[in-house]
Amino acid sequence: MDHSAPQASRPGAAVVTGGAKGIGFAISLELARRGYAVVVTGRDQAALDRATRDIRAQVTDARVTAVPLDVTSSASVAEAFAAVAEFAPLSVLVNNAGVIARRPAAELPDDDWSRVIETDLSGVFRCSRAAFPLLAQHGGGAIVNVASIAASVGISGRVAYTAAKAGVEGLTRTLALEWAASGIRVNTVAPGWTLTEMVESGIASGQLSHDALVARIPLRRLANPAEIADAVAYLASPQASYITGQTLVVDGGFCINGNA
Ligand code: NAI
Repeated sequence: MDHSAPQASRPGAAVVTGGAKGIGFAISLELARRGYAVVVTGRDQAALDRATRDIRAQVTDARVTAVPLDVTSSASVAEAFAAVAEFAPLSVLVNNAGVIARRPAAELPDDDWSRVIETDLSGVFRCSRAAFPLLAQHGGGAIVNVASIAASVGISGRVAYTAAKAGVEGLTRTLALEWAASGIRVNTVAPGWTLTEMVESGIASGQLSHDALVARIPLRRLANPAEIADAVAYLASPQASYITGQTLVVDGGFCINGNA
């Protein structure tokens, strides 16, 4: 296909925040399969080591490295992106790291509110800001943020999470506008209920009902992390070269289900 935007001959580096497990690991693996030099980042060194080993085991000739990164710390973000600059020219940032607090709004302590906002919203801003000069200096690239269906529907007991994820969609549109001239596309993937530790812990604690979720999802199942990774990889790729400032909802039809 003929794209008017210039395309690099070999994919550059792709940084994935919270890339060692769950959806982040599936994204790291898929980007490695597509030939990116993947930088798996996160707070837990043992998990990072495991993730890079697993990727090398599954992808022949994978270019992959692990870099410690806590998205709530500007110092950690600066250090990590300095290491990225040494590894390969940056072409993709995936802001995937996220946490959740499940508690009624009237009882949510400041600490839980701040932890979720700092990670899920401010973390996306911090990493995007740090990535900007590295992406711009090589003629641009793509940022893909992982928000949630919680950006567009209310979910009782998730006030900080829904606020943060809605914020990510707003941030996405403004960064897309500001950075278009630098050749940087900024988009969001909004996953629905996906089988990872985050959802499994909710089911285990009784705060989520697997059967009730499945009954509400038109495709009648939760997502596999790999299905979210495919959407992220698409928005990061040259095939999405004319898409910016958008949210791609990947939820098995959950949000369009108005049936009572
Ligand atoms: P998970 O809990 O399995 O993984 C989250 C990852 O983020 C972990 O690797 C964790 O270490 C990392 N992380 C947390 N705080 C961090 C910090 N301060 N710095 C760096 N890394 C940090 O969760 P899951 O399900 O894989 O979620 C990934 C993303 O997808 C999150 O943004 C989540 O909100 C989003 N999402 C998940 C859904 C689901 O059903 N599992 C649905 C919609 C969105």
